[in-house]
Amino acid sequence: MRKKVTVVGAGNVGANCALRIADKELADVVLVDVVEGVPQGKGLDILQSGPVQGYDVMITGANDYAPTANSDVAIITAGIPRKPGMSRDDLLIANYEIVKTATEGVVKHSPNCIIIVVTNPLDAMAQSALWVSKFPKNRVVGMAGVLDSARFRTFIAQALNVSVENVTGVVMGGHGDTMVPLVRLTNVSGIPLTELMDQSTIDQIVDRTRNGGAEIVKYLKTGSAYYAPSAAAVEMADSFLKDKKKVLPCAALLEGEYGINGLFVGVPVKLGASGIEKIYEVMLTSDERAMLQKSAASVQELVDVLKSKN
Ligand SMILES: NC(=O)c1ccc[n+]([C@@H]2O[C@H](COP(=O)([O-])OP(=O)(O)OC[C@H]3O[C@@H](n4cnc5c(N)ncnc54)[C@H](O)[C@@H]3O)[C@@H](O)[C@H]2O)c1
Repeated sequence: MRKKVTVVGAGNVGANCALRIADKELADVVLVDVVEGVPQGKGLDILQSGPVQGYDVMITGANDYAPTANSDVAIITAGIPRKPGMSRDDLLIANYEIVKTATEGVVKHSPNCIIIVVTNPLDAMAQSALWVSKFPKNRVVGMAGVLDSARFRTFIAQALNVSVENVTGVVMGGHGDTMVPLVRLTNVSGIPLTELMDQSTIDQIVDRTRNGGAEIVKYLKTGSAYYAPSAAAVEMADSFLKDKKKVLPCAALLEGEYGINGLFVGVPVKLGASGIEKIYEVMLTSDERAMLQKSAASVQELVDVLKSKN
């Protein structure tokens, strides 16, 4: 039997998730959105690429959750994206209500699925999906680290004029300005980054990575990034659906790891058929640990605002 993925939100990120899943022939997809006609129209359009692209998956759209029944994975992208000058945190209350509704719909029809949250502010929205779903913590995960690391790796590859495939880098922490690109653990085919670049170039790249989303928002003016975000969410879905056990930086509920308790923060995790199969606790320097704590504190502020609602 083919796998099945629900994508909630048929906007820029959601539609591109559906397209990428189809292109990889990973699973059937049901796109769900509140706007009548949009998920149906985009679903049909993606389906009609099948004969040309050579995929045999079913892509449908709906305004309710009944057709999503028995999905293996649900990707929640429903929400408002930021506009120039807005931070991700400005979206908190509006997107909380949307993620709540989306999670309820998903859980009702696919009680055994794995939820990937994309909606911002990411870490707080992942925490909301966990609260609302009442799923075990290994079945709710947030997408941010894969995207932030992809941006980091892109800028490094550009600066060194090497293949992006050779650049390994990890960005931990919350999905915001306080994210923690771990320079010490970044390398190009095993060669430490610090041997390939001077400190000021590294600092510039770290800074550009932290502001990677805002840079695109500034160009687009009417929305935020979606090609790389959809690629990142689908890499995670792929690892679940094929039990690939990829080790990727994702927002996961920490319960004591890194000295953080009861909070979603981006850390390296193993993603397999049962969800998050392992959280890796990397040895950090005191500076790195302090940066991670600072990042976690900014996530905690948002979560505290939402606590009264749960
Ligand atoms: N985690 C990340 O790294 C990351 C990256 C990019 C975007 N995002 C976030 O993803 C979200 C979506 O971004 P986008 O660019 O696709 O926005 P978009 O405006 O293009 O699409 C959002 C879609 O959600 C739909 N929607 C709103 N309320 C809904 C509901 N209750 N149920 C179902 N659908 C609903 C809208 O109709 C719209 O089609 C935003 O919150 C954005 O900030 C996160």
